[in-house]
Amino acid sequence: MTHFPVEKIRLDFPILEEKIRNKPLVYLDNAASCQKPNAVIDTISHVYRHDYANVHRGVHTLSVRSTDKFESAREKIRAFINADSTKEIIITKGTTESINLVAQTYGKANLKPGDEILITAMEHHSNIVPWQMLCEQTGAILKVAPINQQGELIVTEFEKLLGDKTRLVAVVHM
Ligand SMILES: Cc1ncc(COP(=O)(O)O)c(C=O)c1O
Repeated sequence: MTHFPVEKIRLDFPILEEKIRNKPLVYLDNAASCQKPNAVIDTISHVYRHDYANVHRGVHTLSVRSTDKFESAREKIRAFINADSTKEIIITKGTTESINLVAQTYGKANLKPGDEILITAMEHHSNIVPWQMLCEQTGAILKVAPINQQGELIVTEFEKLLGDKTRLVAVVHM
């Protein structure tokens, strides 16, 4: 197993210097609201102090600078997830918006009555409700793969549900 330098990584996050009830803060609610490392805090502060303007909607200097920064972030994300093109990187405000976007564009255009969408019993509401709504709109059927007492996906059950009618699989991953 690779060594994960937790103490070194903690130093990047100033909020982790906080003590809660006299104990060093341990924060596990990242999917809901991620704490920010210094690199992010400093960049946001720098942008508001020096570059902030309309992205893609102005020809003045600050707008061009903001647009360049915005697009270079898209390129960094592309490289990080090894996508072929920056055209594949769509920046949204969060998970719920992203999943609704896929459901209401790709899903609405491609799903027919009887098609199946497969999720698991461990999904957050943001990965359940958009599919329930899409099923109501298209006549598709939502299938839910079960988890065991330890909260782990039962892979054999998942495989049984993955069939010829499955058009879309949406599962949490970390
Ligand atoms: C585990 C998990 N997944 C997804 C979400 C939804 O994220 P967002 O607020 O970005 O829509 C949350 C939000 O609380 C969450 O805790």
